[in-house]
Amino acid sequence: MCGIVGYIGTKQAYPILIKGLKRLEYRGYDSAGVALISNNRHLNVYKAKGKVSDLESFAAEKDISGTVGIAHTRWATHGEPSQANAHPHYSSSENLALIHNGIIENYAILKEKLQSKGYVFKSSTDTEVLVQLIDYIMVTNKLDLLSAVQLALQEVIGAYAIAVLEKNNPDQIIAARKSSSLVVGIGEEELFLASDATPIVEYTDKVVYLDDEEIAIIRRGEELKVVNFKNVEINPEIKEVKLNLGQLEKRGFSHFMLKEIFEQPDCIYDCMRGRINVDADNVVLSAVIDYKEKLLGARRFIIVACGTSWHAALIGKHLIESFCRIPVEVEYASEFRYRDPVIDEQDVVIAISQSGETTDTLAAIELARSRGAFIYGICNSVGSSIPRATHTGSYIHVGPEIGVASTKAFTGQVTVLAMLALTLAKEKQSLPREEFLEIVKELSHIPEKMKKVLELNHRIAGLSQIFTYAHNFIYLGRGYSYPVALEGALKLKEISYIHAEGYPAAEMKHGPIALIDAEMPVVVIATHNGLYKKVLSNIQEIKARQGRVIALVTEGDDVISSIADYCIELPATLECLDPLITTVPLQMLAYHIAVCKGKDVDQPRNLAKSVTVE
Ligand code: F6R
Repeated sequence: MCGIVGYIGTKQAYPILIKGLKRLEYRGYDSAGVALISNNRHLNVYKAKGKVSDLESFAAEKDISGTVGIAHTRWATHGEPSQANAHPHYSSSENLALIHNGIIENYAILKEKLQSKGYVFKSSTDTEVLVQLIDYIMVTNKLDLLSAVQLALQEVIGAYAIAVLEKNNPDQIIAARKSSSLVVGIGEEELFLASDATPIVEYTDKVVYLDDEEIAIIRRGEELKVVNFKNVEINPEIKEVKLNLGQLEKRGFSHFMLKEIFEQPDCIYDCMRGRINVDADNVVLSAVIDYKEKLLGARRFIIVACGTSWHAALIGKHLIESFCRIPVEVEYASEFRYRDPVIDEQDVVIAISQSGETTDTLAAIELARSRGAFIYGICNSVGSSIPRATHTGSYIHVGPEIGVASTKAFTGQVTVLAMLALTLAKEKQSLPREEFLEIVKELSHIPEKMKKVLELNHRIAGLSQIFTYAHNFIYLGRGYSYPVALEGALKLKEISYIHAEGYPAAEMKHGPIALIDAEMPVVVIATHNGLYKKVLSNIQEIKARQGRVIALVTEGDDVISSIADYCIELPATLECLDPLITTVPLQMLAYHIAVCKGKDVDQPRNLAKSVTVE
């Protein structure tokens, strides 16, 4: 979704802004723009449809001087991707330029009002309405920019992170947020602004995460000042970010997605570090211990999430129910928020999100909180909105995920869910000690086993070439492997644009089997676990209809290898931890098929990394 960068200081702003936009490219976007107050005090706005590199070409011969500026990558919501709709937007007077991430829901009424006052609009965006509204309030009430922003935002319904530049006041940027993240970086004689810390970390590790309805007054040569809409000053809490630049770069991999797939053994190790102690036969998630009465006293758990995080939630349901005997429901956050769910203070809601900014998940949390439920967050992005909206929670600690298609966040989420279920089970004594110890020990071996799976990369790359012809794929799995089938199908859809569906394998005969013919690739997760024989029958049903079976099997399986067209042999693990192993080859399969088809793997069309709109 839209990305925001801002700079004020002693250096030339343009290169810093462009580099910042490139760091935010992973969020997904369709156009980009920059506004600078030049050395001779012009407010220059340059915009281009397409990539940040298109913006650079457009601005190449123009005046890019100036030590203050704001820049933006846009992900279209109101109005098609075009130069006119790209941000920054000028006010009619061309005194103000504004960038925005979010949606102004009452923009139509505001636009009508402004048109009746003679304001003319050049774009179809809701953002242009906001900059004109601020301009109108400034001019009619003879106010300064800060006061006008404060008044304008009180008229606005919706979500936003904004930054405004004023030609007549080149020494400041005014920025504000509500439901969309915004971070201010504090350097030596310079201040930065961004949607998240990634564009800032190469300059400073000191940041302030703005809260809802806070306005940052970012002035040259002055300390950061934060106020609310009523102009009450708020003491900004300066935090240290622990990101390093290496985590934001490809390190020799051709795509971030591949790098992130390969990082998984280390990520899972990091995720478990300090939480699993095999020597002491122990698992401790501190948040679970701190709130154990609340968690163990719950009538049920409801897990809310979207997309890949929702698939992790389905695995979490299996884990918690079987280890702890606590009933678990899994809900799409987007559906949950608009139902009237039966939920109260006896319920615990677990919200899972990589970005920590997903609007639907945030809204589901707010609804559950308003009904008295206790909220536990499982997040990756430190300091993001979701961890701040929950009562407690656990970070997955897998580092920044840049590839739009989620990979290491999924396995990190499953690992945290396994540790959460184990910690609760230990407290509740709901798992026999032997079984508990076996799972803990096996969990600690997962990074090593993942490394073995990664050795299959070349073989999977070769296999992928065979299937670039396909327009459809089916993914099948049962039990713990059913969510993996969903996740495998989602990965393929997202980055290769091949239609793919995941099903519980036994559901085939209730309809989808009609799709099977000699053209149809069917990926079956058929590792050696409790439902192995059933899945074997499902494979036979597919082969009887000439489907082309790619089976994920446990090393040494010579039964399925004699039936399936292609087999990917994986190290054996416990059934409950199987998703941590079986997901990895499916990520690689999707990746290589997309590469073979020449697709933009890291920035697939129409997709955004942080879904900050409904
Ligand atoms: C899939 C993917 C999306 C996200 C979904 C939720 O690869 O990345 O489906 O999983 O948009 O995002 P988070 O986890 O950030 O809430």
